[in-house]
Amino acid sequence: MQSNYEERVLTGDRTTGKLHLGHYVGSLKNRIDMQQKYDTFILLADVQALTTHFESPKEIEQHLRQIAMDYLAVGIDPEKATIFVQSLVPEIAELTIFYSMFVTVNSLRHNPTVKSEAAERGYDQMYYGFLGYPVSQAADITFCKATLVPVGEDQVPHIEQTRKIVRRFNELYAPVLIEPKAVVGEVPRLVGLDGKSKMSKSMGNAITLDASAQEVRDKIQVAVTDPARIRKSDPGHPEVCPVFTYHQAFAAGTSDEVATGCRSGTMGCVECKRRIAGRINELLEPMRERRVAYEANPRMADEILIAGTKRAREIAKETMREVREAMGLNYRLDYDEARD
Ligand code: TRP
Repeated sequence: MQSNYEERVLTGDRTTGKLHLGHYVGSLKNRIDMQQKYDTFILLADVQALTTHFESPKEIEQHLRQIAMDYLAVGIDPEKATIFVQSLVPEIAELTIFYSMFVTVNSLRHNPTVKSEAAERGYDQMYYGFLGYPVSQAADITFCKATLVPVGEDQVPHIEQTRKIVRRFNELYAPVLIEPKAVVGEVPRLVGLDGKSKMSKSMGNAITLDASAQEVRDKIQVAVTDPARIRKSDPGHPEVCPVFTYHQAFAAGTSDEVATGCRSGTMGCVECKRRIAGRINELLEPMRERRVAYEANPRMADEILIAGTKRAREIAKETMREVREAMGLNYRLDYDEARD
């Protein structure tokens, strides 16, 4: 594992459920490309998962293992990327507390993603940890001085918040931290199978990356299409059809032809859906093969997480030392001994 790259990538996912096609186009695809060029860190955000799952924390382990498997299946290469567990890097929690001293509650309340999530859940469910999760996300990103953060569109406000935290820290104490940039995928937000704005496992409108070929066909078959099109000969409107957005996302090379066929009433929804289901299955097939290989040896995934977490922790300790020094908290109290 090398670390003499110009850029360092950090990103991750909350361990709350399987990853799906929306994650793939929004961020996983970028991660797979970026790991070739940059020192890449991928975090299993099990602490952040608690913001919504604190009442059922026992489920988190299963999700964590599932997502680790999704990463390996999708083509994250453990030789190139460091995959690690957030809760096992306590320095992230420490940094979160330090940063939280100079982040205003108002700036969190006005974070557009926090706002819409809070509205979905109801404002009476606005917990302290939930309101502050962008601060912990800033700690996730800055502990390893990441410069690039591949994420879906909804995460951009958090990267903005991280940049503000970095600037403020560096101005208050010393220039220790690095401002990261968000890198959003070509398809920043994938529409759900029900036509709702976002594919999401909790909304039940997703195709997960571990879906079987039959499941993909079945789900696409019942996906919402242009409501104005009842018979094949009716001219369709690809611009309002959720299934057409999948052609754009997964079969861009043939999407013009599909749009023309749809508009002219020569290609029916059945054929259009058959094609895109086939294309999605082509994409998922190599992932299925890799998953089978990893599942045959479950210890392998554990070992990858252990090695990744150790490496993350080494780097986190170093950053923590610099942060404490910058803040004047590096007391000569035999601090290392006191902590061990
Ligand atoms: N909040 C992110 C999501 O829901 C997951 C995440 C946690 C993350 N920490 C991160 C993403 C740090 C990028 C960087 O998708």
